[in-house]
Amino acid sequence: MCGIVGYIGHRDAFPIVIKGLQRLEYRGYDSAGIALFDGNNINLSKTKGKVEDLKDKSKEISLAGTLGIGHTRWATHGVPNDVNSHPHYSNSGDLVIIHNGIIENYESIKKALQNRDYTFKSDTDTEVLVNLIEEVQKTEGVKLGKAVQIALNQVVGAYAIAVFDKKKPDEIVVAKLGSPLAIGVGEDEFFIASDASPFIEFTNNAIYLEDEEMAIVRLGKEIKLRKIKNDAVAYPNILELQMNLEEIEKGGYDHFMLKEIYEQPRAIMDTYRGRLLADQGIIRMAGIDQNIEKFVNANRIIIVACGTSWHAGLVAEYIFEDLARIPVEVEYASEFRYRNPVITDKDVLIAISQSGETADTLAAIKLAKEKGAFVFGVCNVVGSSIARESDAGAYTHAGPEIGVASTKAFTTQITVLTLIALKLAKEKGEFSGSKFHEYLTELETIPAKVEKALKSNDLVETVAEVYKDSTNCLYLGRGYNFPVALEGALKLKEISYIHAEGYPAAEMKHGPIALIDEQMPVFVIATKKGHYEKVVSNIQEIKSRKGKIIAIVTEGDVQVKELADHVIEIPETLESLTPLLTTIPLQLLSYHIAVMRNCNVDQPRNLAKSVTVE
Ligand code: G6P
Repeated sequence: MCGIVGYIGHRDAFPIVIKGLQRLEYRGYDSAGIALFDGNNINLSKTKGKVEDLKDKSKEISLAGTLGIGHTRWATHGVPNDVNSHPHYSNSGDLVIIHNGIIENYESIKKALQNRDYTFKSDTDTEVLVNLIEEVQKTEGVKLGKAVQIALNQVVGAYAIAVFDKKKPDEIVVAKLGSPLAIGVGEDEFFIASDASPFIEFTNNAIYLEDEEMAIVRLGKEIKLRKIKNDAVAYPNILELQMNLEEIEKGGYDHFMLKEIYEQPRAIMDTYRGRLLADQGIIRMAGIDQNIEKFVNANRIIIVACGTSWHAGLVAEYIFEDLARIPVEVEYASEFRYRNPVITDKDVLIAISQSGETADTLAAIKLAKEKGAFVFGVCNVVGSSIARESDAGAYTHAGPEIGVASTKAFTTQITVLTLIALKLAKEKGEFSGSKFHEYLTELETIPAKVEKALKSNDLVETVAEVYKDSTNCLYLGRGYNFPVALEGALKLKEISYIHAEGYPAAEMKHGPIALIDEQMPVFVIATKKGHYEKVVSNIQEIKSRKGKIIAIVTEGDVQVKELADHVIEIPETLESLTPLLTTIPLQLLSYHIAVMRNCNVDQPRNLAKSVTVE
């Protein structure tokens, strides 16, 4: 949550910082700000609203300067308004800071500073931090870098910060604990950002700070990292980035979400490329191969995740238990970390996270590791905190996902988890060779089948038109498609602000059936191989109470067609692979309804893509 950008070099900082903020807006977008330093003066502009509003407001200040920092905010302390927006000045006006994270003990520090006559304009924890740094500078007589280090040793919380001092025009000091921070290393210039997207067109070389590391980014000098706690020197690992510019632009689509929905055939293929060798009857995954004993001998697999990734975990529970016969528990990371769970060294914990930065998931991993479990990460963002913290892992290779509502991350997570389950099933002897082969070859057909499912787009749009003004919706599914029902409901809630509930179809009669009347659209996943007859009975129960039925069915279905108000067909596949197809029309449906309701599809209100606070 919150995106930070910084630049120091020979170019004008303003356009770089603004464009960088636009790329990081997925991290939070309730307010934005920028500070530029022209060698003499700091010019600062900030506003409630989007980066586009900041661009307009910045016309009031001088835009000169080759040093700049900017921030796009998802409020934690203090309501979103101009004053609480970052950057924040210190009392002297010499220091300026941007911060992603939370300083938990800010109130006591604030009181201590107020006793020393410091005043505060905002309600933020960040303004407290910049003044603490200033106070350290004064009382200890140290330069900015040292003052930042001393101050950070006094705070409790999480941060990725960038701060500069008017008196030190050639440097920006950065530090990280809990929130991500990357430094792009160019020729005579440096970029600072929450992820690499703001600087990808300028340099492929990036340093990702580890937790509790800081750096003085100084022109004409090599970057040196230091450990915040003990001042030990750390040697930066300069990574060569694989990302390209096209991947982070809309490429002709109206919204990132739509682009990402349509990228799924390619993304799924990229996920299994080099891993799924159907003709040789092999699944090759280094992270599993090297740790196969741990998985095969595990007492159980615990899956932790949040949001959409948690739904992918629920699908995985069905696949792992059904195919590999390994007991699985799926937990919300936020609950798991605080409920004193029983974990042993015979447990394998799989953490699923698109961003690899979700604070609760990261904390759940740390807890499981402390208790001796083997931790396997399934992340999309390469080099992310969860990927680094895990003992082993597998990337989803979906490419950058920018729309806040997760789409291709979900289907590629399911693809990776399916590969793992199949591999373990084979290893454990749960599968005959021919059954294994059938799965591998079918998995290879999924991208083409997703392509076909995407062809329902026009039909889905007409369905969206009918139900766009609904105030409530139900989503029902059974077995493998119960988590898809949850995910369908989540997508609708997130981006169109319509109340929606996902339920296992058979549970409907234990409560939600009371809600059904002629105003209630019910989206039912009724594919051929997933408890079809039972779901048909559930559909009949809805129909007899006059509910509106929109069914996702297998191509060629006859029975449900007669009962439902609308049917959307998906190609036939193995039952365990149906979530990869049934989810497609539900994603499209939420997208179209949100567009028709004039909602901000890519940046829904109150949400953020990367939730780095608990
Ligand atoms: C936020 C996002 C969701 C995402 C969840 C977990 O709530 O808006 O789309 O599913 O975080 O994120 P992760 O990066 O850990 O998958």
